[in-house]
Amino acid sequence: MIMHGDAPPKLQLPFDLAGLDASPIGTGRLVLRPIRAQDADDIHAYQRLPEVVAYLPWPLLDREASHEHTELRTKQRTLATDGDRVALAIVLPGEPSVGGGGEGRVIGDLTFILTSAAHAQVAVGWVLHPDFQGHGYAREAATALLDLAAGLGAHRIAATVDAANKQSLVLCERLGMRKEATFHHDRYGQTGWRDTVIYAVTDAEWLGRRTSGAAADTTPPGAH
Ligand SMILES: CC(C)(COP(=O)(O)OP(=O)(O)OC[C@H]1O[C@@H](n2cnc3c(N)ncnc32)[C@H](O)[C@@H]1OP(=O)(O)O)[C@@H](O)C(=O)NCCC(=O)NCCS
Repeated sequence: MIMHGDAPPKLQLPFDLAGLDASPIGTGRLVLRPIRAQDADDIHAYQRLPEVVAYLPWPLLDREASHEHTELRTKQRTLATDGDRVALAIVLPGEPSVGGGGEGRVIGDLTFILTSAAHAQVAVGWVLHPDFQGHGYAREAATALLDLAAGLGAHRIAATVDAANKQSLVLCERLGMRKEATFHHDRYGQTGWRDTVIYAVTDAEWLGRRTSGAAADTTPPGAH
């Protein structure tokens, strides 16, 4: 139960992916569901691309490493204590999967991290195969993830983005997240010292955007 009044809002924990096995999230064009071991070839199709991992905390992964990474993520099923994370596959129905499965192709994935149970804080992340970028799919999937987070009682939902990752910065802006901080040279990457931008939105802000319809708009920009 979400508590209000003197006590701060509480996340509804533990959150387990079992419910999404049974009832995946339909977003209109996409289906979001827990990652499965048989998704590994679809996932490898983007984890092997330098432009995809450039701003991610993973190295380039060969097929075997992608299979191991996917296997690991299939076991991350619950958010209960700080640092727990779960991943959701972003499935495009009707698109043939690399591995030959019939329900559609995993064109990307979402990460959902419990950063502080005591303070009802979570973090989110996203990745899409480049062939499927530029269609609003990331925004559509992220909108559903923020809905899920707010529905669980997350008070603040944050995203951590490399300052050079223009597409992800734009996505945060389009979602209506607030740019809260830039950390200068807080990480050392392959190309040297990196800057990190923190975006966030509170549940009340997010629900306000959803009520007004702003965040759900998947009309291509310029088409209004
Ligand atoms: C970050 C990332 C997920 C963004 O993907 P994306 O496809 O650019 O994001 P969106 O879903 O918001 O799509 C926006 C684009 O789709 C276009 N679009 C087309 N149809 C659309 C529709 N129906 N609705 C909304 N946008 C639409 C928009 O005009 C916009 O184009 P633009 O980038 O030329 O302005 C992607 O770049 C990525 O996977 N990067 C590599 C991994 C990574 O860095 N992840 C983030 C770590 S913090």
